[in-house]
Amino acid sequence: MRQKLIAGNWKMNASSEQVASLLTELLAGLEPNTAQLAVCPPFPYLSQAKQLLADSPVLLGAQDCSDQEAGAFTGQVAATMLADLGINLVLVGHSERRIYQQETAEEILAKTQQALAAGLTPVVCVGETQAERTASKTEERVVEQLDLLFKELSPADLNKLVIAYEPVWAIGTGLTATPAEAQEVHQLIRQNLAKVSPEAATKVRILYGGSMNANNAAELLSMPDIDGGLIGGASLNAADFLTIYQAAGQ
Ligand code: PGA
Repeated sequence: MRQKLIAGNWKMNASSEQVASLLTELLAGLEPNTAQLAVCPPFPYLSQAKQLLADSPVLLGAQDCSDQEAGAFTGQVAATMLADLGINLVLVGHSERRIYQQETAEEILAKTQQALAAGLTPVVCVGETQAERTASKTEERVVEQLDLLFKELSPADLNKLVIAYEPVWAIGTGLTATPAEAQEVHQLIRQNLAKVSPEAATKVRILYGGSMNANNAAELLSMPDIDGGLIGGASLNAADFLTIYQAAGQ
């Protein structure tokens, strides 16, 4: 049984005041269940969030890390620094970074390796665009985005991965993949992972992301290969985020 994970990706939103109010509300309404809950605030608020979440079961994630270990890389944040702060996980290769920062497969592999070396759980994001789906290229695109990782990571490291399937056309649009559409891609990812590591295929959690909300979460999360969610917009509302978390657990 894979433990479900619900992670909130706050993206470039919130102020210190909002971090305090959102996390206070979240903790006040939290009824721990069998699933894990995580939030990924922007870098400047990680320390504040860490303090607020101390003694709580809520995990803390960052939205990115450097592909380099340390040194003259102005503006970058090393995975070891995140680990030093007590951060648990880090998003890698989110489609917004692939698009706006032109992140390549090689950089995404290097970031994943840095995260793993620092003891963080990398949440590697993949997904097709609308044009790719229309052209029936979903499978090809998602397999291609994972190819280098599956080739380069050791079986032990593959076991530690979390993968997030986030169709680009569903992110922040209010459009969601149907549970059947999402399940199909999640199953495909797992089958491809099984080719390199049958053990990792049983262990690795594959989250769905893309307009998951309080209304559609339960149905998506009931699919056999959907092991949680990466939530953008709805994670900025404590009540909605808690409803999604409740839908994930027992
Ligand atoms: P969304 O974002 O839930 O707002 O669609 C998901 C994501 O980008 O991780």
